[in-house]
Amino acid sequence: MLFPQAAHQRNGQHPYYTTFLPKTYMTASLLDGKAIALDLRAQYRKQVAALTARGQRPGLAVVLVGENPASQVYVRNKVRACDEAGMYSENIVLPADVRLEEVIERIEALNRDPRIHGILVQLPLPPQLDEARVLATVSAQKDVDGFHTENVGALALGNPRFVPCTPKGVMVLLERAGIDPRGREAVVVGRSNIVGKPMARLLLAADATVTVCHSKTRDLAAHTRRADILVVAIGRAMMITGDMVKPGAVVIDVGMNRRADGTLCGDVDFASVRPVASWITPVPGGVGPMTIAMLLANTIEAAQQAADRDEGYLAD
Ligand code: GUN
Repeated sequence: MLFPQAAHQRNGQHPYYTTFLPKTYMTASLLDGKAIALDLRAQYRKQVAALTARGQRPGLAVVLVGENPASQVYVRNKVRACDEAGMYSENIVLPADVRLEEVIERIEALNRDPRIHGILVQLPLPPQLDEARVLATVSAQKDVDGFHTENVGALALGNPRFVPCTPKGVMVLLERAGIDPRGREAVVVGRSNIVGKPMARLLLAADATVTVCHSKTRDLAAHTRRADILVVAIGRAMMITGDMVKPGAVVIDVGMNRRADGTLCGDVDFASVRPVASWITPVPGGVGPMTIAMLLANTIEAAQQAADRDEGYLAD
């Protein structure tokens, strides 16, 4: 049997203006990433203080190549979050025309630096730099982005070590809202190495039935309409509309796009999807703050592992 709002959508009416929708689907609840991230960051401050007292103050190095304005904003926010948590941080800015050898040398120096537990190379890199070579240079033990082959492989095999921050943050959002993916239809739109692929692996590890859609998928809406949990990471403004969403679905919007008027919007058309879904992330204030929180979590974890290694070594 169809839900009433689906019938209204077939009639071309905006479901928000109908009067007899079931209350549970009238308006999706917000998955408030900003509030959850703030809460987590207060906990991380305490963990940082404890590690600092053990002589292992967590430290993150962020490498930014070139002057991509969006990357500059992301990097600034990441470094600020480290500072607020009491962590050590370094921001290494290299010119857009830097040679590959120079980038590799800088990363190798960070690999050896005992103050640095996490290394993040902000993507995208300028086209002349071989991204795979750069990411392979980051020590797997300091790879807080989870992009190194060893960490990607560990996640693929179901033994995660460092997990990419955005999909990890999405899993925490679901957990905080009491949404268990087990046995659910999860549809991930986007197959990037940063979000789509690791997201699919995490949902699979949580026992969801997972479909990955991408630019060559035929009849995208047929897939998205089956989703109990819909994660959208395609980088196209407001691509997913209310008629593409199953009533009562949980909708996670990883997109961050700038409109011509300068305002931000996601990959999901919030106005038409919110009345159909049961939960939805706002943009901004949904997934973005969770990504930063998970970067802090991974860096603290890396520092913890370094402390354990050091103390193990000293005890021998
Ligand atoms: N560019 C967009 N998202 C990310 C991310 O999570 N990590 C890095 N390093 N670069 C990015």
